[in-house]
Amino acid sequence: LDSSQKVDPAADVIAVDGQIVGYEEHIYLMLYKPAGVVSATEDNVSPTVIGLLPRQYQGAGLFPVGRLDKDTTGLLLITNDGTWAHGITSPKKHMDKIYDAVVEGDIPPDMGQRFADGIVLDDGLHCLSAKAVQTGPQSLTVVVQEGKFHQVKRMFHAVGKEVIYLKRLSMGSLALDKTLTKGEYRSLTEEEIKKAEDNYNSQKKLLDDRLV
Ligand code: URA
Repeated sequence: LDSSQKVDPAADVIAVDGQIVGYEEHIYLMLYKPAGVVSATEDNVSPTVIGLLPRQYQGAGLFPVGRLDKDTTGLLLITNDGTWAHGITSPKKHMDKIYDAVVEGDIPPDMGQRFADGIVLDDGLHCLSAKAVQTGPQSLTVVVQEGKFHQVKRMFHAVGKEVIYLKRLSMGSLALDKTLTKGEYRSLTEEEIKKAEDNYNSQKKLLDDRLV
């Protein structure tokens, strides 16, 4: 057997000693998550992100890579490759996640400094240093290295601000494709699949682009 031999899952049948063996294909998607759907595979009440995908993807073992709240929009990765997902969501990786946020009321001038110093949440949890850059009267672009439950909303809450809109723009090196509209998805390219596990600094460019 030649281990470098490529398999076309649509055309090839793989057999070992005449026995057909299953071929499990890994799937890697980016979804522009709309509001109103939950980041879960199943839910009794609300539509799920997996349910947004066409039939061919149902029953393929897909799950969201990390979660966005029901009302949060933007980049959500979906896969059935647990190892890859773990590489991205592992807390040790400190993968940068960039969000656009809109908050209620005025933004205090020391917001950026407080995010940089490390916000302490209501429950006493200390957040890692983050960035918050004001982009409008009530809007900011935020970069966090963690992915705790309701992280961004809780950080703002801790400084007396309520988030009224939240959209994720990027995770590590992967940015939401600007050609996607809400509810649309596409497959990741081979290169994106590989580079997803590096937290390299294309996000710096993404942030700079937003601030010009
Ligand atoms: N932080 C939040 O509070 N909600 C999200 O959906 C993502 C990050």
